[in-house]
Amino acid sequence: MIIASNFKTNHTRESTKEYLVKLNHFVKENSIKEEILVFPPSTALDNYNLHDSIKIGVQNAYPTDKGSFTGELGFTQIDEFDIKTILIGHSERRHILKESDELIVSKYNFYKDKNYKIVYCIGEPKEVRDDGLEKVLEYNFSQLDGIDLDYENLIVAYEPVWAIGTGVSATTKDIEETLSALRKSIKAPLLYGGSVKVANTKEILEIKNCDGILVGTASWDIEDFKEMVRIAHEI
Ligand code: 13P
Repeated sequence: MIIASNFKTNHTRESTKEYLVKLNHFVKENSIKEEILVFPPSTALDNYNLHDSIKIGVQNAYPTDKGSFTGELGFTQIDEFDIKTILIGHSERRHILKESDELIVSKYNFYKDKNYKIVYCIGEPKEVRDDGLEKVLEYNFSQLDGIDLDYENLIVAYEPVWAIGTGVSATTKDIEETLSALRKSIKAPLLYGGSVKVANTKEILEIKNCDGILVGTASWDIEDFKEMVRIAHEI
């Protein structure tokens, strides 16, 4: 199972280090075999000495080795820390930062060529969900246009926009229906994200075709995140 934490714009370099020390200790002590991904803010990227189960990823990077792209990180900057995992297509980047589908596809292709593990996010807004499952699938599959679904290091995260940061997760029925439909075309692991917390981790991880979770808010507290990892480990 894959348990991922997206820090978004939270934690500092100092608090990220404290978090990772605690997480690393927990994973070692409990012989955790789950795949754990942590996406800290870019100021906290570093070459941490972590157990093999824990991988650090970037929340974003520009599709370039280096160059003149003010404010962006390229491959050279993240490779310095031996990071090989990236989050692409998060709805906050699509909707708040106005990233185009074209840019997202070019990031995907660039980091695929570098053999990165790519957590590629898709998910529909509320008005699409209100129109029913058929529209939901149409919308989510349109976000996969131009993406090589056979890429061996791909992980797809289904994160309905209306469930992100709202405290209201999608229902297990909604998640199961959507993941089952995605599974018909996607062999890659499928994650669910959107208001996952300790209290609903087990029921979500037990959903058919759900290979893990991508957690925001509830993962920023190390004790809660450790608990989610423990639940995954016990399933
Ligand atoms: P929340 O867990 O805060 O809903 O965020 C989910 C998310 O966006 C993870 O990428």
